[in-house]
Amino acid sequence: MSTYRPAFSQPAPIIFGRGAINALGGEIKKLGSKKIMVICEKGIEDAGIAKVVTDALEREGIDYVKFNRVISDPSDSVVDEAGVIAVAEGVDCLVGVGGGSSMDTAKATAIYMLDPGPVRRYILQAPPTIDTKVPVILVPTTAGTGSECTTVAIISLPDKSVKWSAFVNTTLAIVDPELTMTLPKYETVNTGLDAFSHAAEAMTVRDWNYHSDLFGEAAIRKICKNLYTAWSEPSNIEARSEMALAANWAGLAFNNPITHIGHACADAFSCHFHTPHGLGCALALPETLALVAPVVPERMRVIANAMELTLRGDETGEELGKLVADALRAMMRKMEMKSLKALGYSRADITSLAQDVLENHLSSYCPVDVTFEVAENILGAIYDTYQ
Ligand SMILES: [Fe+2]
Repeated sequence: MSTYRPAFSQPAPIIFGRGAINALGGEIKKLGSKKIMVICEKGIEDAGIAKVVTDALEREGIDYVKFNRVISDPSDSVVDEAGVIAVAEGVDCLVGVGGGSSMDTAKATAIYMLDPGPVRRYILQAPPTIDTKVPVILVPTTAGTGSECTTVAIISLPDKSVKWSAFVNTTLAIVDPELTMTLPKYETVNTGLDAFSHAAEAMTVRDWNYHSDLFGEAAIRKICKNLYTAWSEPSNIEARSEMALAANWAGLAFNNPITHIGHACADAFSCHFHTPHGLGCALALPETLALVAPVVPERMRVIANAMELTLRGDETGEELGKLVADALRAMMRKMEMKSLKALGYSRADITSLAQDVLENHLSSYCPVDVTFEVAENILGAIYDTYQ
């Protein structure tokens, strides 16, 4: 009997550790690139992080142009804007610096540069995997998204209230925990639990694989040991380093198997209410795992053990799901995460997103068959059980 699983792969090399950003210039020289575009959000510039990156380029005498107009949930028009400048400036290497939005914009700008013109043509018509040519280097400044070690670029089409995924080549990830030190407390917890959701959804998805499990389990263990310290002591470099590594491992975990219904819910929240991605994933996480636990009980036991929950050993899947969900909600309360109700949404606002969740391609990877009723029930439960 065959027991093989779908392939595991890693998109690009990863340089990790304090001061890793100092390797950027040398790596660009190895690539032979002459003109760099640094792609970031204004907030990354205001926090002084973009300067750390451009200083690293200047020390090596590398020419660059900066694009600092990335927005949350980047739209195709922002990508087009970056692409026009990149082409006009003769850019031959893209460096995305920031959270998922900046890194997604860098990846999608590589799509634009393949054949300059509105990137929407590719997003709507091309096959999902696009063989881009310009090198893309990714530098995360949160410990959450894992986008630096995945091939997916997620772009919003605001007129259609949808997010679109395209898969592109990436060249290198540089993960320097010192770049996460100024991350505000609420973003520390949101993005940290987003990383947890990457690991846990990858471990419970239909197309799981053995290697992703290894990264996912280790990431959950590190997050449970370090997230509270990173939140309560923002300048604790050890906790920040552990979280940066955990988020990177969680990214490696979900690159191939992808995520499932928790991320479909988060996509619906952000498309309709502009809820930050990490917050949406975190709020959906407990009920996502409670939903799937009865059909993947042994996988939920691995997750519960990685969280160091006290177990008897004979729990049912349903019981394991409840234990894991309760523990996650306790973490969320301890780190003062706001509920959907506290954010001003009604239960009807949230359950009205059921059709979106049903139609999101990620729901098809959920180990539970997602019907309209399943989608409506999980949305209601997300609202009800964390207030
Ligand atoms: Fe995520």
